[in-house]
Amino acid sequence: MSREVILYIAMSLDGYIATEDDNIDFLSKVDVLGEDYGYGDFQHQVDTLIWGRKTYDKLLSFGIPFPHKDKKCYVLSKSRTGRNEDIEYYGGDLVELISKLKNEEGKNIYCDGGGEVVFSLLKNKLIDKMIISIIPHLLGAGKRLFNDGRPEQSMDLMKSVSYPSGLVQLWYDMKD
Ligand SMILES: NC(=O)c1ccc[n+]([C@@H]2O[C@H](COP(=O)([O-])OP(=O)(O)OC[C@H]3O[C@@H](n4cnc5c(N)ncnc54)[C@H](OP(=O)(O)O)[C@@H]3O)[C@@H](O)[C@H]2O)c1
Repeated sequence: MSREVILYIAMSLDGYIATEDDNIDFLSKVDVLGEDYGYGDFQHQVDTLIWGRKTYDKLLSFGIPFPHKDKKCYVLSKSRTGRNEDIEYYGGDLVELISKLKNEEGKNIYCDGGGEVVFSLLKNKLIDKMIISIIPHLLGAGKRLFNDGRPEQSMDLMKSVSYPSGLVQLWYDMKD
């Protein structure tokens, strides 16, 4: 089977992935010792990662060792080019990038957001699966996971898992 592009991301119940100034503290509301909500297992199924430049910058702001040394990481950007020891900036055509990756051997391709990248991918119907963790919190305002202006698309719900913390995880296969 060909490699799939999988969005694995968390949003508030009202649809936000961060505040407008990139605060993601609401995610820690579901922090539970020993519970990773399937993230570790998921990491074993992917070997390539796609990020938006702003999400990558947010990671850099944590000042932690780069957590995806084992993966090929693309950071989408029109403002930066080149590469460093961890990532490669990509500002070309997304359809071409995904098509190239799907023609290569490998595990699945992990999209970690943020919202602008999700928009770019969905606009071209390039996401095959979505694993969305809904945090029991109303953020009120901020950066949306699903920005307006995308084509309509339907999906099949493959699985839903609810956790004692209140997090609900929805697994979708995209159609069309
Ligand atoms: N809740 C969660 O699980 C979760 C997950 C991921 C991220 N986040 C949060 O989301 C926030 C960032 O999201 P965001 O929507 O503002 O930004 P983003 O999607 O992370 O990054 C946007 C940037 O990506 C580049 N980009 C997007 N589409 C592109 C395309 N088709 N071609 C080339 N470059 C493209 C552009 O970079 P240039 O400006 O350099 O051109 C754009 O400014 C952060 O606060 C992050 O922490 C939350």
